[in-house]
Amino acid sequence: MKFVHAEYTDGILILKLNRPGKKNALTQNMYLRLALALEDANSDDQIRAVLLQGSSAVFTSGNDIADFADDGSGTEKRASERFMRAVMQLEKPLVAGVCGYAVGIGATMLLHCDYVVASVDVRIRFPFVDLGLCPEFASTLLLPLVVGRAKANEWMLIGATIQAAEALAAGLVNQVLPNDQVLDDAGSVARALAKKPAEALAQTRRLLKSAQRDIMAARVDEEREIFRTLRDTPDAQRIFRDFLSRPR
Ligand code: COA
Repeated sequence: MKFVHAEYTDGILILKLNRPGKKNALTQNMYLRLALALEDANSDDQIRAVLLQGSSAVFTSGNDIADFADDGSGTEKRASERFMRAVMQLEKPLVAGVCGYAVGIGATMLLHCDYVVASVDVRIRFPFVDLGLCPEFASTLLLPLVVGRAKANEWMLIGATIQAAEALAAGLVNQVLPNDQVLDDAGSVARALAKKPAEALAQTRRLLKSAQRDIMAARVDEEREIFRTLRDTPDAQRIFRDFLSRPR
């Protein structure tokens, strides 16, 4: 079974996460497939918008924690960096349809989407500190900008779970709908964006992001260094092992 489905319809590239047995936890192969599809979308004039979604039950439980555990190979397993670079450099609008859990990188990526439709049962969480890690991909810069410092502290330091009403009120998502309407509605938003004058849309997206462009790049680098150091500490490795071997 393919864990990422890519399909093209009405000028939209739809990327679907499909690893239900692991709550759509993202593996290196999944990141790579997503990254390649996004990179290709930039040079494909037929693609006018991208829709990223999980199922109507779960978006993603984040990075597969097994990938963080040191396997002794000494190889750097970070296809997530290529994926998030592709998200940040995407030249087409990115819409997300988010039901259920959006944890870790599943929460981080929402900060880089142009429009997010969430379900009434959405559970968004930045669990990095509890995992012995730090947030990544400029989220330590963007989250306080979007929701203010108090909420950013609550969500990133304490690791509070963000429910639908709070995510909507804070501006982390654009809309909240019943689960069975989320993916259809996100598709409608993507189709509407796909019909806009492409150059005007592209320039406006660029302008909306331009104030943060340079500081974002520097923050991504700073977070990456700290993340890699933290990930390889005995503390973090013990937390990953505990998660993977917990009784169930
Ligand atoms: N990495 C690897 N496996 C994961 C995973 C992840 N991020 N998230 C879930 N899974 C696996 C579980 O180990 C379990 O596998 P099993 O059936 O082989 O035992 C399966 O997916 C179902 O998860 P489970 O925890 O039983 O579901 P739940 O509904 O009780 O809880 C979550 C869902 C998302 C709250 C919980 O799985 C969780 O906290 N996951 C870790 C999230 C996380 O910290 N992600 C950030 C990584 S940076």
